[in-house]
Formats: sequence, C-alpha cells, structure tokens
Amino acid sequence: MTPDLQLARLGLFDAKVPRYTSYPTAPRFNREVGGGHFARWIGEIAPGAAISLYVHVPFCRRLCWFCACRTQGTQSDAPVRAYLETLKAEIAMLKAHLPEGVHLSRLHWGGGTPTLLAPDMMTELAEAIRALAPFTEATEFSVEIDPGEIDGARLDALAAAGMNRASIGVQDFDPQIQATIGRLQSYEITRDAVAEIRARGVKSLNADILYGLPHQSKERITESVQKLLSLTPDRVALYGYAHVPWMAKRQQMIPTDALPSPQERLALFETARRLFLWDNYDEIGIDHFALRQDGLSIAARKGLLRRNFQGYTDDTAEVLVGIGASSISRFPQGYAQNAPATGAHTAAIRAGRFSTARGHEFSHDDLLRGRMIEQLMCDFRIDIAEITARFGVERDVVVALLQRSFDAFPGMLELTDEGLAIPPEARPLTRMVARSLDAYEMDAEGHSSAI
Ligand SMILES: C[S@@+](CC[C@H](N)C(=O)[O-])C[C@H]1O[C@@H](n2cnc3c(N)ncnc32)[C@H](O)[C@@H]1O
Ligand code: SF4
Repeated sequence: MTPDLQLARLGLFDAKVPRYTSYPTAPRFNREVGGGHFARWIGEIAPGAAISLYVHVPFCRRLCWFCACRTQGTQSDAPVRAYLETLKAEIAMLKAHLPEGVHLSRLHWGGGTPTLLAPDMMTELAEAIRALAPFTEATEFSVEIDPGEIDGARLDALAAAGMNRASIGVQDFDPQIQATIGRLQSYEITRDAVAEIRARGVKSLNADILYGLPHQSKERITESVQKLLSLTPDRVALYGYAHVPWMAKRQQMIPTDALPSPQERLALFETARRLFLWDNYDEIGIDHFALRQDGLSIAARKGLLRRNFQGYTDDTAEVLVGIGASSISRFPQGYAQNAPATGAHTAAIRAGRFSTARGHEFSHDDLLRGRMIEQLMCDFRIDIAEITARFGVERDVVVALLQRSFDAFPGMLELTDEGLAIPPEARPLTRMVARSLDAYEMDAEGHSSAI
C-alpha cells in the first residue's frame, strides 16, 4: 500500500479533526461557566505572577472571501472607536479584580485586523493595558498586521507602544489564486510592509501562508514559498485552507471545483515543507517553521514548546486572559470565553459585568488528556514518565490510554517503555492521534472512555 493510500484508509483525508489549540476544544465548551467563574479565577492569580493577554479586534476594512475568522467589515472608525471604549472599560474591570503586582509575559493583538485602529487608538489601548499589568524586559508584544492595512504612522504608534514581534497575513503570492480567494495583495506591498516593520526594530516576524487553496499547484506553491523566503521571515505558519462555506458565508464565492483534492493538499504541504527545510528552517509542530535562533525553535529544541489559542508558543505563563468579543481565557482552573457577538459583549461590559458566555472547568482527566495531546502536537510523542509524575496517576492507566491510540493506527505509531511516538512518515496523522485521546470527541461518537 502506498503511504498516501494508507493515510487515506486511516481517515486522514476526510477527517474534520480539531487543531487542538485547547483541550477540550472550544465547540465542547458549556454554559455552566460564566462571569462569576471568570472573576473568581482572575482573583485567584498569584500576586506578582506573570500573565499573558490576548486582545481581539473583530473588524476589517476588507473582507477576504477565504477567511473563516469571525470579523465585521467597516469603512468608518465609529464602530471601532466605540469598541475601543468597551475594551478600555473591560480592562478597567479586570484591574479591579486582578491581584497586586501582576506583570505581562506576552501581549498579542489579533483579529480581524488590529492594524485598522488609528494611531491614537493604538496608543490609548496600549496605555490602558500597561496600567493593568506592566511590561518587563522579557515581555513580548506581538500584533497581527495586514500588509494592506498599515502605514508608517500606525507602525510608529505600535513601535512606541512596545511592539517587538509581528505577524503578517500573506496566504499566497499568485495573482490568480489571490483573485479567486478575494484577497489582492502584491508581492511589493508585502515586501514593503516587512521592510517598514523591521525598520522599527521588530525582532521576530511571522508570516501566515496557506496550502490547499483553489488553483494551487506544486509549481505555484513553490513560487510563493520562494517569494516568501526572499523576505526571510523568522517564523512561518503553513495552515491548510479550511473550506467551510456553511460557516463562513463569504467562502461561497470560492469555486469548489478549483480546490485541490485531499491527496493534492498533502502534496502541496509536503512541497512547501521541503522548501522551508532546505532553507534551514526548523519544523515546529504540525504546521510551523522557524529559523534556528528564533524563540520558537529554541523552545522546541529544549522540549519547552507549548500549544495555545495562537498556535505554538514558548510562553510559560499559566494564565492567558482574553479581552474583547469572543476571546478565550485559559486559567489553571479552566477556560472562559467572552460573548462572541460584539453587541452582546459591549452590553455586558456597559452593565458592569464580564461577558463570559461559555467555558469549561477542568477535571483531573481533562488536565491529563490535555497535556498528552499538547505533547503530541508539540513533540510528536507522549512521555509516560512526565505524565505519571505530573498527574500522580499509575503507569498502567497511562499505558492503557496509549495502547488504545496505538491500536487505532496499525503499523503507524511506535509504543515503547518510554511512551507513544509518531514517526516522521505518520505525522500527517498527528491531529487524528490526538483525537483518539479526546474523551469528548469519543463521547460524541458514542464510545466514551473517560478514565
Ligand atoms: C486574523 S487573520 C490575519 C490578520 C490580518 N487580518 C490579515 O489579513 O493579514 C489570521 C490568519 O488566519 C488564517 N485563516 C483565515 N481563514 C482561514 C481559512 N479558511 N483556513 C485556514 N486559515 C485561515 C490566515 O492565514 C490568516 O492570516
Ligand atoms: S484575512 Fe484578515 S483582513 Fe481578510 S477578512 Fe480575514 S481577518 Fe480580515
């Protein structure tokens, strides 16, 4: 059997498998977690601890057809300014609950397009955040930058606010593909944005590109990756295009018959992957690449890579607080997600309440399985010794779980005294192996196996 056929037989190509940026995954959150939990969990952060913050800006000037992010198009600044006032009020409420001396490990502005904020709005937002939790020498502040929606004044404001990392959306450089996915962005615009970002001392630049786009071929992705490599990004996220027109209505503009087949998608990923490896990028987890001196690469080598809502991270903070509509917070106690709609989020904050609409309180089993899944997604292996020591469980319990995953993928995985490993040729299966450890997915399929 060819490797492709074997992967197909194991369900790789038709699997709607989570990306496991959390465990349980966000669709499994429940309504039992509300603002009371959120306020309590904020209050239980250790005084003087380092926390991370994610700020969500759910607006864009352009609405790209391919994009599955929940975001609103707006040409005027009025809704953006109103939203900024909500963010500031939310930050002030947080400050009233946050223990003394808390400082920032990571700050990330994402969206949507946070770079549509006017320079004075960026400054106001950054000042409010610094009043909540100050930066230290080690704080990393990253911003998602749309190269088509940025200029010198906004980059100056971001640099003055302390931005030292940036992430740009590229997707693909091919003009026909760009026209088909409704996102026109010339190579020159991207190149100039990169130069302007770097001129402000940003020490790490990430670029997002996609495989599996309509009309994409091996030749075309090769050309796009080579163009990207000419800009020497420090990190690259190579995501598989998710075509979900029933959720993201704009995707109905994209002709399905121009999409590559599942086998072609795998070949596109492999083509891009090899180009990054040839150019001396390290492979990070399932879909990232980083230069050897980049923090993500260093963390991966030391076995310190973590998985969170932004994908891969070297952040060691225990708490990530999400600010803004739909943002998700992670605490040692569980997850809490803000109301997804901007209107509902704003109404709650105006009424003096946190907008937490859903979440999940961790059980011991969640934490154990969550860590095993994180190990797989980051290191392609589960270390029995770490799991038993950290969670105080018997070795037999962990081995039984691993044995079940091993048996579900005959001939593909390695099970030894140390643990379960996914060899390089089986790595396209990583999310599926992770799913075999997911008690909630298994519940949904009718054969639960919680310990
Ligand atoms: C919030 S957007 C990027 C920030 C900024 N608004 C921009 O356009 O440059 C985050 C990333 O999500 C990814 N993304 C959006 N829709 C996607 C889809 N349907 N499938 C896979 N990745 C997608 C894209 O790579 C995109 O760069
Ligand atoms: S890709 Fe960026 S600019 Fe385009 S719709 Fe999505 S978030 Fe907005």
